[in-house]
Amino acid sequence: MTAAKDAVYVTEDLIASDIDAYLEKHQHKTMLRFITCGSVDDGKSTLIGRLLYDSKMIFEDQLASLERDSKASGTQGQNIDFALLVDGLAAEREQGITIDVAYRFFSTDKRKFIVADTPGHEQYTRNMVTGASTADLAVILVDARQGVLTQTRRHSYLVNLLGIQNVVLAVNKMDLIGYSQERFYEIVKEYSHFAEQIGMTSFLPIPISGLAGDNIVTRSANMPWYQGPPLLSHLEDAPLNVAQMQDAPFRMAVQWVNRPNLDFRGFSGQIGSGSIKPGDAIRVLPSGTTTHVKSIVTYDGDLIGAVAGQSVTLTFADEIDCSRGDVIVQSDAPCEVADQFEATLVWMGEAEMLPGRPYLLKIGTQTMTATVTEPKYEVNVNTLEHLPSRTLGLNAIGVVNISTDRAIPFEAYKDNPDLGGFILIDRISNATVAAGMVHFALRRSQNIHWQALDVDRSAHASAKNQTAKVVWFTGLSGSGKSTIANIVEKKLHAMGKHTFLLDGDNVRHGLNRDLGFTDADRVENIRRVGEVARLMTDAGLIVLTAFISPFRSERRMVRDMMEDGEFIEVFVDTPLAVAEARDVKGLYKKARAGNLKNFTGIDSPYEEPETAELIVNTVDLTAEEAAEKVIAALVGGGV
Ligand code: ADX
Repeated sequence: MTAAKDAVYVTEDLIASDIDAYLEKHQHKTMLRFITCGSVDDGKSTLIGRLLYDSKMIFEDQLASLERDSKASGTQGQNIDFALLVDGLAAEREQGITIDVAYRFFSTDKRKFIVADTPGHEQYTRNMVTGASTADLAVILVDARQGVLTQTRRHSYLVNLLGIQNVVLAVNKMDLIGYSQERFYEIVKEYSHFAEQIGMTSFLPIPISGLAGDNIVTRSANMPWYQGPPLLSHLEDAPLNVAQMQDAPFRMAVQWVNRPNLDFRGFSGQIGSGSIKPGDAIRVLPSGTTTHVKSIVTYDGDLIGAVAGQSVTLTFADEIDCSRGDVIVQSDAPCEVADQFEATLVWMGEAEMLPGRPYLLKIGTQTMTATVTEPKYEVNVNTLEHLPSRTLGLNAIGVVNISTDRAIPFEAYKDNPDLGGFILIDRISNATVAAGMVHFALRRSQNIHWQALDVDRSAHASAKNQTAKVVWFTGLSGSGKSTIANIVEKKLHAMGKHTFLLDGDNVRHGLNRDLGFTDADRVENIRRVGEVARLMTDAGLIVLTAFISPFRSERRMVRDMMEDGEFIEVFVDTPLAVAEARDVKGLYKKARAGNLKNFTGIDSPYEEPETAELIVNTVDLTAEEAAEKVIAALVGGGV
């Protein structure tokens, strides 16, 4: 992330005359976070440069380089400096373009500002989402000559999706169209139409020129027909998210539990919404336990009350369970708790979304495992059409069902972004692959409970006089998985063991006959096989599986479904050249000829195991010898 820079105030009379008064005043200013977006060449850098310049706040290093440059070029004066500033900003953003969002700070007498400057290109949707996720306001820039473009629609859709309620439509470069009132209203009308379609309730249109400074700080004499506020005044007066959250019911996600000694137990976090005072009845979710607030502790002493946005430590009247990740809510207005949701996802991963793959989901102060269970549709942001889709690619926006591995307290994103906004992280690469917004919980998650069974898994296994296992063979097609697994099963059977062999080719004729060989289908194939293997271990069986299972993520998911030590991954390590030379089913030949798509090893990846319990090399070993090795490992492992 682009680092925040320390800023220097270039002019403010108070600094010189009374520094203490100045600091005091500055400290109590509110801060507005906003984002600027639009399309390429809409004049964003010029506008930001103008705001920075006119608010007389420039970074120390930028100022130094400006002075250097203007000295070097022998030019001086405000216009030159301004142009240089803009060039500098643009260049800086171009360089930073692939990493993240550039955050810029400035300040006026009334307020402090952080502006997230995001690139306009479509491929940087994720940067925009990052910048917009914390913004109080969005400035959507339109070039007056161009009007509403695809990017304008796309960004407006995202801004609205992310719940930014305060939108400014800045129609820029008015100087280039002769300050035409008619053209301005034409653009406003076109935008209104789109805004209505996406459910944006209001926006403020302002005709501006970033370059000439019209309607930025003061109302422009060039457009007497415009009676609204100049941009900067509007930014100074716009309501803050945090202020709006103060009227909502009380919620605070617990960031950590403070227990310096046995006499003190406090629960710390930032109040997400509402207000709290000692004596208030609260409830801890997901457990639902209730108590009262005893005190509100801060470094500066106890408080008589606190509101959204403040970081506090609460102590309770009773000793109840409450830990990191729990959410403290107003007792009579709790939020819901569920483990399945409908949500909108903005996909940011280079690799497409794979339904059924476990991702890490971060919401509030919690992280858990979650899967996308059902992609519903993708939204074409330009036409607003809903397209049927089984996956989401980079920058795609879609609606899906999500299932988490435990129930969590949450709220719809539109009511509370803190408890309804989440991200998905790839478990192998640790990359953030999606931003998500919860719509609502699925009813089914609230009505299905685990049934406790009297004849449980250990009863099943001991009746068979064995320990349940899953022996998971993985490797390329033609590596010898099925052959070896088959011999292993015969041997175990001869030893009086109760076994079952699940084989890729067979399972794909029945249970999984609706699945093909796309990445998404392979993930689902392995998910189902994992669930079946899991049920079979509940029945006390030794399960053998022979699937290519090309992805680490899903092999790990199945491993995590089993008890510790139950899952034995056997990598049947056969080089592609060897498997291809064998070509028992003639499939490699077909694939090489281009008659079979997505063939593992040819045009579909195989991720070799990093944590296999056993590796068998079928180049040096016969299938019989390989099977012996597996049996030896199983016997050694207490089967
Ligand atoms: S997996 O990747 O989803 O684990 P699985 O083991 O079920 O695959 O099925 C692999 C078998 O399907 C192969 O042994 C081969 O016989 C057959 N097959 C057909 N098309 C393909 C393909 N495109 N890629 C791999 N195997 C294929």
